[in-house]
Amino acid sequence: MACGIIGVTARKSQGSPSRIAEIVKKGLEKLEYRGYDSVGVAAIYDNRILVRKGKGKISEVNRRIKLDRVLGWTVIGHTRWATHGAPSDINAHPHTDCSGKIAVVHNGIIQNYVELKKELTAKGHRFQSETDTEVLAHLIEEYLKKGNEVFHAFKKALKRIKGSYAFGVIAVDEPDKIFFARKDSPLVIGIGRDMNFIASDIPAFLEYTRDVIIVYDEELGYITPDSVYLEDENGIPVNVKMRIRKIDWTPDMAKKEGYPHFMIKEIHEQPRALRDTLRGLDESVGEASKLILEARKVYFVAAGTSYHACLVGDYLLNILAGIPSFSIISSEYKKYRRSIGEGDVVIAVSQSGETIDTLMAIRVFKKNGAKIISVSNVVDSAIPRESNYTIYTRAGPEIGVAATKTFTTQILVLSWLSLSVAEKGGKLTENEARKMRDSLRKAPLLVSDILARYEGVTKKLGEELMNSRSAFYLGRGIGLPIAMEGALKLKEIAYIHAEAYPAGESKHGPIALVEPGFPVVFLIFEDEWKRHMLGNIEEMKARGAYAIGIIPEESEFIEERLDKAIVVPKLKPIVGTIVYSVPLQLIAYYAAVARGYDPDKPRNLAKTVTVE
Ligand code: F6R
Repeated sequence: MACGIIGVTARKSQGSPSRIAEIVKKGLEKLEYRGYDSVGVAAIYDNRILVRKGKGKISEVNRRIKLDRVLGWTVIGHTRWATHGAPSDINAHPHTDCSGKIAVVHNGIIQNYVELKKELTAKGHRFQSETDTEVLAHLIEEYLKKGNEVFHAFKKALKRIKGSYAFGVIAVDEPDKIFFARKDSPLVIGIGRDMNFIASDIPAFLEYTRDVIIVYDEELGYITPDSVYLEDENGIPVNVKMRIRKIDWTPDMAKKEGYPHFMIKEIHEQPRALRDTLRGLDESVGEASKLILEARKVYFVAAGTSYHACLVGDYLLNILAGIPSFSIISSEYKKYRRSIGEGDVVIAVSQSGETIDTLMAIRVFKKNGAKIISVSNVVDSAIPRESNYTIYTRAGPEIGVAATKTFTTQILVLSWLSLSVAEKGGKLTENEARKMRDSLRKAPLLVSDILARYEGVTKKLGEELMNSRSAFYLGRGIGLPIAMEGALKLKEIAYIHAEAYPAGESKHGPIALVEPGFPVVFLIFEDEWKRHMLGNIEEMKARGAYAIGIIPEESEFIEERLDKAIVVPKLKPIVGTIVYSVPLQLIAYYAAVARGYDPDKPRNLAKTVTVE
């Protein structure tokens, strides 16, 4: 999954030597959303490296061993998600070499660590942990022994490593520097005042600076308190000044601002996120729609929630533009490695822009000659960088692990794009397209209205669901991906087994599970499927299901058959997808809270999945 890295190096003028460890600990808390089971820090002080680390949550470990009191002006920190070696105090990062003069933190997987460990053990190195990461510390030690300077030893060590990584390394010989390298795992640099940062994600240092350099794949270098040295994949120094970007995220965006959880804050931010995303969409979909119209075939590729957004885009391209597109789950991309290529367009959707499966998929398709359009929330992240064209959602940082505002803004972008393709391709008149765009422009207001009217109702529903073992979510047409997303949300944060089905398919098996009280959530849009959905309600009710529905106004004949109804305005389905998503997010959120779980940090999940 995804570990979190932070490193800070500061001038001594930055106050007491324990201040930097406090900054590192706070940064680690900002990275908690990535998922972790242990945590640690290492600092250089008095010509020594001090390491404190342990299994457990940051707050628990800090209580035990005071991570935030470690002395030093150069400090690295890490939240670990176990891959090689069980979660334990010893396997927690940072890892050191035999001399204790080098400490390493790592996100990713070193594939050839077994061979390297054997080789190094034969040379007399003693390993303390079962991790793949520790080999880097010993490799650097080995190259240092041969008389290299730390940076060269680091570079030589990297050449031996196969796999994916974002590394942060400190060494007593160079106490002002943090060395770093990136391959297939995210890494960013923050430029502060007399203090520079490396981190897995921007929120880790957002409180101190908004000047950011995104480290690209296979780049490496080091930071000092007042400089950055960066080399590209060919070893050529990069003009770092040209690479600095001021990001428009504010520190408040990465705080809870009075909400009990990030997830509920982010659900409430959707009107703003949609409004920001709407700005400039006309321009940004222009080029992409041309590429789609010229394509031999169009594919979507993504994972998880982003895959559900793809299904909405895919549906609209078929229905509105008459383009037979297909959606692919990114971890299954290998099936298509020979069939997608020259002449095809692949639309990759990823809020983080770093999901490794999606990245691998587009690499293969691009190499085959396909053109890649990406939709992402993170400027300059790996997937946009490797795409021919990118459209950004402007949801702001999403800290809750469960995607909410990034999902609805993805749908907005894909809907806008489909409209543009349909209009340019002559399948919609200017007037028809304008009307649909007008309805999409209302999304922020409609979502505000739903939040104001339905928070109480959805809270009760969430609380009612808290004792259910399973639930079904049924939809048809464009409602199906929204049902899939609703079920995923309930599953991932409230740990209630939930499945979505095309409502028509539910009688071909799933209905066998329905018994009195079994919750079934119906998504009913103002579309050609409304009457069919009523049939599905009847079938489920006849088996005793507890029927919950999101339905359009003036559908009393449906409302009276439901046990609970959330009545929304009559909407064009193209904007209904966004609006209907919101009560489903709220239901899952309140079910999780009622069951006593932290929706921001669901067990076993990570925000950015950087391991295949
Ligand atoms: C679910 C969720 C995940 C992600 C998936 C893809 O709430 O967040 O299913 O959607 O891991 O992530 P991105 O969009 O970053 O590629």
